[in-house]
Amino acid sequence: MKGLNPADFVKGLAGIMTGKPMKLPDSLKDNPVLRLLFSRRSIRKFKEREIPDGIFDVILEAGRLAPSTVNLQTWTFGVFDRKQWKETFNQMIPFKGVRAVVVMADIHRDYTVLADFPRKPLVEYTLSTVNASIASFAMNMAAESLGIGSVMLSETGKSGFYDAVYLKDKMKLPGGVFPLMTIVFGYPAEKAMAMPPRLPLSEISFRKGTYKAPDPKVMDAWLKQMMAGYRAMFVIQSFKDKLNHYLAKVDEAEKGLRKTVFHVKESFRKKIR
Ligand SMILES: Cc1cc2nc3c(=O)[nH]c(=O)nc-3n(C[C@H](O)[C@H](O)[C@H](O)COP(=O)(O)O)c2cc1C
Repeated sequence: MKGLNPADFVKGLAGIMTGKPMKLPDSLKDNPVLRLLFSRRSIRKFKEREIPDGIFDVILEAGRLAPSTVNLQTWTFGVFDRKQWKETFNQMIPFKGVRAVVVMADIHRDYTVLADFPRKPLVEYTLSTVNASIASFAMNMAAESLGIGSVMLSETGKSGFYDAVYLKDKMKLPGGVFPLMTIVFGYPAEKAMAMPPRLPLSEISFRKGTYKAPDPKVMDAWLKQMMAGYRAMFVIQSFKDKLNHYLAKVDEAEKGLRKTVFHVKESFRKKIR
């Protein structure tokens, strides 16, 4: 990845500042769901203020009611307040959030009653991950509707990147349970900054039945906006540094995931049937 010259920096920032969600037609502009979807942003700075149990339960309920493949509900939520998080991971909730949910894809539970489940690791992993991700977004949006900010993190209690083995060990997860992400919640202590650049709909969709090749110009403009955004926000850390941070952990993450996704042995399945 090339560096960012001053002209690209200015152009990139201008792109970010002008990149807004589409303007809703007048007939829809008071639609509360669309307004939430269009204004939602990841929050990374939270107030000390606690989220009352009753309110947090509503957020979890939104996850519980999420749609899933054949209604299999292939998820488990590891629910933490600050104290439990500290006791489990020996550190604060990331970004000083007040609550956190580690969302897991979970095929283990269904095996206890469904002996004939596909028993194909990639099918199981994909299916349970898709469903658990949808439940995650439901919780994220429920929080948003209650004025509670959140951020989904692939970083976890270890502050790594998909620390599957570490999390399995810490939370004593059985085979067939895959930690996917941590959602951190709290009342926002920051006003969301400009929206991180989104690719245009014309780039991410096709309407003529077959895949449309990526447009290098569009992708290059997006990359420059990402780089400019990082430079403006963090000054010391570039987007490249951030990517390198992940790249340094990618081998370990891959090994851990392979171990957890492919390890479910036939003997284990027989045992829980
Ligand atoms: C599955 C998932 C994992 C993410 N992991 C991280 C993370 O580890 N650290 C972080 O700061 N943000 C993380 N994010 C937040 C994204 O950076 C953010 O959604 C993206 O930049 C778009 O910004 P927005 O959510 O404010 O619209 C993650 C988001 C998702 C959906």
